[in-house]
Amino acid sequence: MTFRDQINTSRLPRHVAVIMDGNGRWARRRGKERVFGHHQGARAVRKVIEAAAELGIEYLTLYAFSTENWNRPDDEISALMDLMIDSLNNETETLLKNKISAKVIGDINRLSENVRTKLLETIEVTAGGTRMKLVVALSYSSRWEITTACRRIASAVQKGHLRADHITEETVNANLETAGIPDPELMIRTSGEKRVSNFLLWQLAYTELYFTERLWPDFGKEDFYKAIADFQKRERRYGKTSEQIAENN
Ligand code: IPE
Ligand code: IPE
Ligand code: MG
Repeated sequence: MTFRDQINTSRLPRHVAVIMDGNGRWARRRGKERVFGHHQGARAVRKVIEAAAELGIEYLTLYAFSTENWNRPDDEISALMDLMIDSLNNETETLLKNKISAKVIGDINRLSENVRTKLLETIEVTAGGTRMKLVVALSYSSRWEITTACRRIASAVQKGHLRADHITEETVNANLETAGIPDPELMIRTSGEKRVSNFLLWQLAYTELYFTERLWPDFGKEDFYKAIADFQKRERRYGKTSEQIAENN
């Protein structure tokens, strides 16, 4: 039996978020440059996008480049940015064919003009895709996102559009990059690291976390199915007791 067969498609997570980690180690273990790992990683991206869309996942968020990744060596950053443009060029067909719309979260002002233009173009041409939303976290970090939201909210208060005591969790949600997107039910991180690395800190409040030793370039459809099957075995309690959860089912 494959992991795909274990999945109950009527109880899928609506939103799955992925920290795609381990490209560099994958390459180094083969005596190659880190960039080689990023290229292989791009292939894994396609497989996971397809697997998620085929299953019926509504939102897939992929952490592609963090705010902190700007501190990497210049040649690695520029290779990653070139790869981003290539991937967007090559995968637009896949997105259109699978009726997937793309969205970006992150500080796109830090991206070079050509990356930003290509990204915005991809978002525009795929806007009609209704089957799944692919959210690419690029130049993204959660603390940057929350800080930006604080600035916006403070500015609204300063201008008299909002009262400080009227600020609710919904106000915060509405001012995050992910406004309008439900919180992820499942977060997957590859490469064996058990940390969140500044990813969706607010949104992950009640998310189920799944860690696998698999390095990102080796991560395939079956690995994705395995994570979903594992998720479906868990009991999500949201602070309540197990008995309360059973009563509601
Ligand atoms: C993930 O792989 C890709 C990015 C962060 C851009 P890494 O490049 O972090 O690979 P490792 O973790 O060094 O192996
Ligand atoms: C997290 O991976 C960011 C992305 C996958 C884009 P990192 O490799 O940058 O995270 P750390 O440095 O191990 O925490
Ligand atoms: Mg890493």
